[in-house]
Amino acid sequence: MLSSIPPKPIDQLTPSEAAAEIKSLSEELLFHNIQYFQKDSPLISDAQYDELAKRLRALEAHFPHLKTARSREMRVGAPVLSSGFSKVTHKFTMLSLDNVFSQEELQNFMTRIKRFLGDKNSSDLALYAEPKIDGLSVSLYYENGRLIHGATRGDGTTGENVTANIKTLSDIPTTIPFTTHPLNIRGEVYMTLQDFDALNTKQEKEGKKIFANPRNGAAGSLRQLDPSITAQRPLRFFAYSIVPTDAFLSTEAQLMEALKAWGFPTPFPCQLCETMQSAQSFYERLLADRANLGYDIDGVVYKVNALALQQQLGTVARSPRWATAYKFPAEQAQTTIEDIQVQVGRTGALTPVAYLKPVNVGGVVVKRATLHNADEIKRKDIRVGDRVLIQRAGDVIPQVLQVIPTEKRQPPFVFPQKCPICASPAITPEELAITYCTGSFHCTAQAQEKLKHFVSKKAFNIAGLGDKSLVFFWDKGWIRTPVDIFTLQEKSKHFHPRLEDEPGWGPLSMRKLFAAIHASQTIPLARFIYALGIPEIGEVLARDIAQFYESVQTWYEAMLAISQDLNGDAAKHLLTLNGIGEKILQSIAGFMEHPDNQELILSLMKRPTILTAEKPTNHHFLLPFRGKTFVFTGTLEGLSRADAEQKTRELGGKTSSSVSKNTSYVVCGENPGSKQDTAQRLNVPLLTQQEWEDLIKNCKRI
Ligand code: IVH
Repeated sequence: MLSSIPPKPIDQLTPSEAAAEIKSLSEELLFHNIQYFQKDSPLISDAQYDELAKRLRALEAHFPHLKTARSREMRVGAPVLSSGFSKVTHKFTMLSLDNVFSQEELQNFMTRIKRFLGDKNSSDLALYAEPKIDGLSVSLYYENGRLIHGATRGDGTTGENVTANIKTLSDIPTTIPFTTHPLNIRGEVYMTLQDFDALNTKQEKEGKKIFANPRNGAAGSLRQLDPSITAQRPLRFFAYSIVPTDAFLSTEAQLMEALKAWGFPTPFPCQLCETMQSAQSFYERLLADRANLGYDIDGVVYKVNALALQQQLGTVARSPRWATAYKFPAEQAQTTIEDIQVQVGRTGALTPVAYLKPVNVGGVVVKRATLHNADEIKRKDIRVGDRVLIQRAGDVIPQVLQVIPTEKRQPPFVFPQKCPICASPAITPEELAITYCTGSFHCTAQAQEKLKHFVSKKAFNIAGLGDKSLVFFWDKGWIRTPVDIFTLQEKSKHFHPRLEDEPGWGPLSMRKLFAAIHASQTIPLARFIYALGIPEIGEVLARDIAQFYESVQTWYEAMLAISQDLNGDAAKHLLTLNGIGEKILQSIAGFMEHPDNQELILSLMKRPTILTAEKPTNHHFLLPFRGKTFVFTGTLEGLSRADAEQKTRELGGKTSSSVSKNTSYVVCGENPGSKQDTAQRLNVPLLTQQEWEDLIKNCKRI
């Protein structure tokens, strides 16, 4: 799921971290595609979705060999559910659009096009700009000038047959004059804001489903199995493409005129932009005018005006090379902070949360916003009662951007010095901006979250010990630490009343639970480390650490040594593992210093069957560049610098574009320039391309 923690810079990711992130992002995007396209019920905003998609694209660009078939880049929309509609295979894929978010990115889009076309074609490259309608796209198939069927986009290849519903829209002509050859008209079904409000008022009165925003309203209304319901809904249509394009048309502008002549409403305003400047000013004009249009738009679509050039440019993955969407920035709104409360997470992190007067931001009612940490509250001087500007983008939990200045305010918020749940002292480690409750398993909030994590799927995976059961056992006082889980069966003999007499429990469910607990005790070291919930150590890093130490005994001794001396040999040794930095060492030390945690690990290690040894790996031979940073300079022979960097990263090394004292090697090609001088000045060893290639060939650990 989305998190408020900013993602690690891509060039600092190890291939395995990148692979894990690509996998989880692909799954997440597919999940949101399904929410959006199949269920008409998105859980995140478009801006948030775009953020995820952008990260995935960047990851795949950086680690091309990790691109997976599951990757969303190859997909448009979501597979069609067996929903009761028959399926329609689009003869021409319904493509999606790439996004840009700034003038600079729009300029890059133009530059790419020009480069692709070569100079001879690009002198008179004009862009046709039109609003990007926030509705749902449909394809209308006409034969002999008659509407044969209408389909939703689905996954771009196969959509739902919504012909009967489409025919109820008065904006869509059922016949088009002067055409005999088959063609598809594509466009957006949408709802005006006024119609949307009226529909929701009606729905509410009748106790029916309230739609989150006009786009959901439109999608939900079109995808009704009973077309007579669709007929009652105020649906409208804008047409924007003809597929395949008619031979007698040569520009987007003409295409729009043809659509109008056939009786289709088309998006407006539109503008032919001959320069980047006019493209940008059209965007700004539309952004300023957006609220007056009467329906939702979420950006501007720019298309290469000349259809012949569109043909030459073609498509790449899921989108045409000849078009892009310049999206509007994330949605913002103003509201009032009614309360600030501090929540305690699994790691003990105290997170302040603002409780807001509910406000609709881009179609989603927002009631809470994260305030991140004490520093953020201080820096922005956020106080209870303040009127604030909030934004929903990139995070599920919206953020407070700034306080709207007023004269009369309540006193500054005082960040608690004690845990609000268990009253243990709170500490803020110097190097971190986060305040932690020190109560560990003595803090109800922290302990319950830790226990939930401990039994979760990627940790001990104890099915049958769900959140509810854990809280039940907690309230009884029967499970307070993970060790209690493993002694539960033995202790349960003395429970009064007996467990099997408790509501919801019987001999069978008890037996199942104890069997699951018993089975979970044999666990690989990686999952054991992950289960402990050491801050900063997720699934991937836990696996790397487990492989690094191989046995629980070696691992434990190293952890203890690190907590005793952060500059000692054990710490230095672990730092050679890719992905481990000072921050993680400190986190390990902080965790190990707590006597409860030491006691927990020791007790768990004493359990009879716990921990299978980690399979020894030949990690170090596979990743000979682990822990080393390379800088490439000059022209390399037979491979680009990007390829050389890629290869280096695949072998576990890091790459950088500038030389510092932390650089391990500077690899010099032809005409190496100033980086070579800097390297010499800083005593960083130089390698020739041949020497670098030899290192790889010999796979020798350097
Ligand atoms: S042109 C090859 N023009 O935005 C794709 N699309 O995010 C041609 N959309 O799938 C699409 N307004 O459903 C085009 N004026 C407009 C649009 C528009 C909305 C939708 C369309 C597309 C999606 C991409």
